[in-house]
Amino acid sequence: MANITFRSPVMAKDITVYGVAGERGTLLSLAKAHKVPIPFDCGDGECGSCLVQVQYQGENGPMSLTVTEKEKEVLRQLGKITPAEIENAEVNDMPPPHRLACQYIIRHEDILVSFEGDQVLP
Ligand code: FES
Repeated sequence: MANITFRSPVMAKDITVYGVAGERGTLLSLAKAHKVPIPFDCGDGECGSCLVQVQYQGENGPMSLTVTEKEKEVLRQLGKITPAEIENAEVNDMPPPHRLACQYIIRHEDILVSFEGDQVLP
């Protein structure tokens, strides 16, 4: 079980939900299930509209370590990942702070997920 808190200027208040890890569910699908308005278009790691910032809370994170090449490339195009963060992800399994909600698999970790909702690839 993971506590996942969503925060955004487009929401009146934070929403905390419980995510069940191990179901291969994504952050975006959890948000949709709870009517959290993270924008999305492709749902497949291509457009960047589901950009979020993830902060780890509690003691058992970070655990969602996999950042695919596709996700890294979109984050790079958005200017939301640095070369140092890419290296840290590849060498030290430390995920970058910005992620794509449609690519983020929920694990047993408590996280704060922030989003603006206005990121679109140029
Ligand atoms: Fe397009 Fe996530 S919805 S990258």
